[in-house]
Amino acid sequence: MKAAGQDDMTRLMAVMTAAFEPTWGEAWTRRQVEDSLLTGYCDYFLVSPEGKPVASGEQAAGFTLSRSVAGETELLLLAVDPQFRRRGLGALLVENLLHCARAKGESRIFLEMRRGNPAERLYRKIGFQPVGERPNYYRTTSGERIDAVTFALSI
Ligand SMILES: CC(C)(COP(=O)(O)OP(=O)(O)OC[C@H]1O[C@@H](n2cnc3c(N)ncnc32)[C@H](O)[C@@H]1OP(=O)(O)O)[C@@H](O)C(=O)NCCC(=O)NCCS
Repeated sequence: MKAAGQDDMTRLMAVMTAAFEPTWGEAWTRRQVEDSLLTGYCDYFLVSPEGKPVASGEQAAGFTLSRSVAGETELLLLAVDPQFRRRGLGALLVENLLHCARAKGESRIFLEMRRGNPAERLYRKIGFQPVGERPNYYRTTSGERIDAVTFALSI
């Protein structure tokens, strides 16, 4: 586990706020992120607008939050600030996670997304395939229910 410095958490939460539309209710609170990191199974990665690990004091353009348990990684959150989208940062963040999972000798990587999220195109391009669904799993702020779709990639 990487200890989440105050500075990193502030930068991560700035991307979280900018990236997730409130309608879907998908954004995590700072407390939820910090608690996940305290479990010892979760990790995060912050990318700069230039696609590098963020330097001290630099603005973050995107992040991943992931959990690694029993030889498998789960991508919990992927977000890129809208002002830095469609320049490959989302794909780069997922590729970075694959690289880390491979380095740990893991066999599979999972993620779950709300049905209809445009991120599906990105995940499929990288090679993720749907492996399951949870009907009506998500609830929007207006009360609408949306299925969750689970994707997996063998690495
Ligand atoms: C999903 C997200 C991370 C993509 O970030 P990004 O940096 O724009 O992604 P990339 O530039 O790497 O996109 C790579 C490819 O994925 C596909 N893609 C990405 N966003 C897309 C969109 N909104 N609509 C359609 N295809 C999309 C495209 O094929 C794209 O390649 P192209 O730009 O050459 O056409 C970003 O839109 C985001 O933060 N969304 C809100 C949070 C979210 O829903 N996260 C995922 C669920 S946790």
